Amino acid sequence: MEILRHAVLLVHLTGFAILFGAWVVQVVNGQRRLTNLMNWGLLIAAVGGIILSAPFGLYPGQELDYVKIGTKLVILLVIGALLGIGMGRQRKTGATPPALFWLVGILTFANAAIATLWH
Ligand code: HEM
Repeated sequence: MEILRHAVLLVHLTGFAILFGAWVVQVVNGQRRLTNLMNWGLLIAAVGGIILSAPFGLYPGQELDYVKIGTKLVILLVIGALLGIGMGRQRKTGATPPALFWLVGILTFANAAIATLWH
């Protein structure tokens, strides 16, 4: 079961890498658009995270912190809403609202910080 948990963690981290990587590409290339790849990364991170929230394959004595997990879930839902609203605006007006673009990256990074620094 432990190997299964680690495999799901790998999927979860791959989703994070796709979401954050897609965002960094947009910062570096100067376009600052929200892209469909970000949706895919978010979806993969969400599916992995929800599976990881089930208490299987834990080390003896290891417990899940559901306050931390709940916080990450709320932030993930906010990122999803920002992507939905931002991409809708992009389609209609052609422009990406800068606040929405920057918040997607900042909140994704915040979730990774919560995952690794909150103990
Ligand atoms: C953009 C959103 C997210 C990012 C960037 C993210 C990032 C991470 C990272 C970097 C880890 C590895 C931490 C470690 O092993 O020390 C992790 C683990 C984990 N994540 Fe996420 N996560 C996100 C969303 C979620 C969501 C929505 C859930 C659950 C509903 C979730 C549940 C978990 C669980 C249960 C673990 C393993 C146990 C733990 O260390 O807390 N994650 N996440």
